[in-house]
Amino acid sequence: MRPARALIDLSALRHNYLLARERHGGRALAVVKANAYGHGALRCAQALRDEADGFAVAFLGEALELRAGGIDAPILLLEGVFAADELAEVARQRLWMVVHHEEQLCMLERTPLAAPVDVWLKVNSGMNRAGFVGDAVARTWRRLQASGKVGRIVLMTHFARADEPELGTTLEQLQRFEAATAGLPGARSVANSAAILAWPQARRDWARPGILLYGADPMPAEGNDLRAVMTLESAVMAVREIAPGEALGYGGRFVAERPTRVGLVAMGYADGYPRVVPDGTPVAVEGRASRIIGRVSMDMLTIDLTALPEAGLGSQVELWGKQVPINHVAQAAGTISYELLCNVKRVRLEYADARGMGGKA
Ligand SMILES: Cc1ncc(COP(=O)(O)O)c(C=O)c1O
Repeated sequence: MRPARALIDLSALRHNYLLARERHGGRALAVVKANAYGHGALRCAQALRDEADGFAVAFLGEALELRAGGIDAPILLLEGVFAADELAEVARQRLWMVVHHEEQLCMLERTPLAAPVDVWLKVNSGMNRAGFVGDAVARTWRRLQASGKVGRIVLMTHFARADEPELGTTLEQLQRFEAATAGLPGARSVANSAAILAWPQARRDWARPGILLYGADPMPAEGNDLRAVMTLESAVMAVREIAPGEALGYGGRFVAERPTRVGLVAMGYADGYPRVVPDGTPVAVEGRASRIIGRVSMDMLTIDLTALPEAGLGSQVELWGKQVPINHVAQAAGTISYELLCNVKRVRLEYADARGMGGKA
């Protein structure tokens, strides 16, 4: 069997969730959209079942997968509904939904519902992506109330630059949020992972941690006690020596300066490992540091085993995880951990859980 796999540590997931909630205070929705950032939404939700106050996904289909898998906890649709015919299912499944633009409000007003739904009213406090601005917030709140279709209304916003603690923009967003929601009753929710870690001023009734749950610090320098949840790993499937002056792989990007022992690893960009990483990108071989040499191919990549004579056929290679921080790979690839995690595909997801729920997906 091809040795490429993503090992998911569900105990680490719980640790990170509890850390997020404790740091923030109040309650926390675990953000498990995009298949839990590539970790498997249902398995992650099941692992958090006893701890999490609720979950957040992007859209109805993601929520239905969790409900079908037996998740009874509150589930928030972060993008709300796309069409009025989704509303009946939202009510039936007792889902919570974000309302972030006028058309969603109109759909709610004109669609008969069997039961009221809880709404998270989104305020655009400066990200300018979604949400109501200024006076429109209170007007929308009143229309939601008057519709007779709505249970509780939570007031929320989302930060654009909470991972940059040296900037003032997060506090500016907070001030705009406070001004737009002044006098309106109901719970508040503003903090994503970076805000939970870096902005004590941004703690309200509900946190919405995402990336933090998966153990990737949005501000890597901070040294928070996060535990990597996914270990992307594979094994050496062939070894060869190349002589000084010989080129390795597509485009001949790496040219050996000295006799070089090359390990061929079963992992490539078709599995989600980024093709763009340069020579020198870190990997770990049986727990020892090594590096990518040569361009990453579709199913294979090559690493330097020159300094690791004990490594050979079958040696385990970690691409990221507990030994190789995903942020280092993301930096080398010119992207963020979020994208790397969400891109993992084709490899087996295998689960380990100190509570004994291990097994394959
Ligand atoms: C509205 C909202 N809240 C919370 C999150 C979680 O963000 P993070 O993964 O940075 O914690 C997201 C993710 O993009 C989001 O869109």
